[in-house]
Parts: sequence; structure tokens; C-alpha cells
Amino acid sequence: MGLITEARTEKLMQNFSAIDFRMSIEDFSVRVLNTLTGVIPEFNKGRVMIKSEDKIYRCAAWKGFSDDIRNFQISEDEDPISADDTPKIYRNIYNIYRKALHGSMEDIMIKSGLPEVKVSVVVGIFFEGKIVGKVFLESAMDIDISKYDLYLLKFVSKVSSLFIGMKFFQERERRYHKDIIMAMVKALEARDTYTVGHSERVALYSVHIAKELGLDIKDVDKIYWGSIVHDIGKLSIPEHILMKPSKLSPVEYELVKNHPVAGEAMIKDFPWLDRIRPIVRNHHERWDGKGYPDGLKGEQIPFEVRIVTIADAFDAMTSDRVYRKSYSLEHALSEIIRLSGKQFDPEIAKVAVDVLNRVFPVIRNS
Ligand SMILES: [Fe+2]
Ligand SMILES: [Fe+2]
Repeated sequence: MGLITEARTEKLMQNFSAIDFRMSIEDFSVRVLNTLTGVIPEFNKGRVMIKSEDKIYRCAAWKGFSDDIRNFQISEDEDPISADDTPKIYRNIYNIYRKALHGSMEDIMIKSGLPEVKVSVVVGIFFEGKIVGKVFLESAMDIDISKYDLYLLKFVSKVSSLFIGMKFFQERERRYHKDIIMAMVKALEARDTYTVGHSERVALYSVHIAKELGLDIKDVDKIYWGSIVHDIGKLSIPEHILMKPSKLSPVEYELVKNHPVAGEAMIKDFPWLDRIRPIVRNHHERWDGKGYPDGLKGEQIPFEVRIVTIADAFDAMTSDRVYRKSYSLEHALSEIIRLSGKQFDPEIAKVAVDVLNRVFPVIRNS
């Protein structure tokens, strides 16, 4: 038997009382499963399946299954398991899936351990009245389910809906911000036909390098947005200077060189862009300290900025410019090697060369 009712309720409340909305959906789902299997130990398995925009359910977390379950997915239309805010009980769920999926997930289901599941209690997660996920609490034994278990699950459905709802709101807000930023970047690139797509390519190159270096998802996200916005200050440069094929006058050159500072000024009123300010301000700094605007040297330049700097220079080299044709991939990579320790962080450059060599054809042709 599980813990006595009161103690179980208390444990449940405790686990959910300190929900941090900065937590990822995956981490939250792990907590849901650990909590539920903790307070109702008769259930030794569980899954949280979240529906993504493509209307496919995938496991955000699992317990008591092999990691193969990561590949188990089911479209909303095919899914034979319906869920409500009141828990529903299913027996031998594997057979139910099998019939609905016509064998397409057979291998994955067997490897995951789904055939061992005897009982599943399922409850929905809702956002704005629509189902967006399902919590499965499962057991390999044919156990009875008490009213109290169902009550706990109902509570979990409510908490999960609250959490996921908040995350979806955050995501929506993020997208709204993204639309504004993208509109600004498009306006920037529309003025200079030679830089169309530059910001997005720099973002993709930077993200690939950052992931290869093992940065966590928050830093990768920061690098993505920093790269998208990095040249926003070029909006302050008159078009005739931006598109000038001949040598710039000293005054014109100073104006061009000012774009990182101008960019920083443009975004300073958007607190949600605070974290990317160093990327905007310092993306023309150099490892040897000869860059601008601050002449930062070596590790004084924030790590994420050093990544973007390489991606930025690489995209500039592999693009046609008003004053020269693009370099070949090989030429651009050899330039990065030649300039490492001078313009670029040599450690990052080493990794970047491999990554860029691999991703260039895909990104450039997309
Ligand atoms: Fe720039
Ligand atoms: Fe740039």
C-alpha cells in the first residue's frame, strides 16, 4: 500500500508548491512523473506526451520505459487514447495503439517496453480549452485504482495545465517579439541587396558552433537572437555609403564602424534584448584587441560574442559584397585558420572550421 492519504497529499503539494516557470516543459514533466510515482508507488511507469504544432504527440518525459520511447510518436488524428480533465483508465494500451497505428510504431513500442503495461490512467493537459498534452500513469501489474488516485491525477492535470499554459504564453510572447525583430532585420537587409539573409545565416552558423561547443539551450538561444540582431545598427548608415563600391572616406568609415554602438542604442529600450547587448555592441572586437568599439582583448570578449564573430566573418567572406566576389568555402576556412589567434579565439576557431565545413552547403543552399 502507498502512504496514508494525508501524507501523500502533503507530499504532492510540496512537490508542486515551488514550480519555477523558468523550468523547461521536459523538466516539469519529469517532476510530474517523479511526484506521481512517488505518492502512488503502485504505478511504476509513466509518460508525459506533449502535442507540438505539427499535431503530433511526443514524450516530453518518461519513467519505467527504455529511452526508445523518445521515438514513439502519434498524430492527433491516429491517437486512440482520449483524455479529459477527469482521469480515464485503459487496460493493455499497447494493443489499443497497435490497432490504431497499423504496425507503424511496432518496433519502437516493443523496444520501449509498452507491451508490458497492463493499466494506464490518462489525464489531459489543456491550454485555452484545447488539449495539448497527456499524462500517463502506468503499471506493469493489473492493479486496482482507488478514487483517491484519480483525485490526485485530476489535481496534477490542473497544475500541469497551469504550467504548460504559462509556457505557451511565454512562447507566444516570444514569437511576437520575434516578429518585431524580424521586421527590423528585414528592413535592414532590404536596404543592402548584398546582405540579404546575412543575419539568419550568421545565426544558424553560430548556433551550430555553440551546440558543438556544448553550450546549454539558454546560451544557444541568446546566440541565435544576438546574431539575428547583431547588425541592426546598420540602419543608421545612409544607403549610399552602405552600397558604395569604392573606398570609403575616413568619415564614412567611422560611420560604418559606429554600427555596433548605434545598434546597442537602438535596442536599449527593449529590456528583453538586454542579454544580447554584448553581441550587438562587441561583434567587431578582435582576439588581439585591435577590434572596435571597445578594443576588448582575448577573454575580455564574452564567449558567445567570440562565436558570433567567427560566424559573421565567415558569412561575409562567403557572400558577394558590393566591392568583391565571394570566397570559396575552402578559401574562407583557410582565412579563419590564418586569422585565429589574431582576429578569432583560436580554440573556438578550431571547432568552428569543422562545423562550418559541414553545415555550409546546407545553410547556404537553403
Ligand atoms: Fe557588423
Ligand atoms: Fe554582420
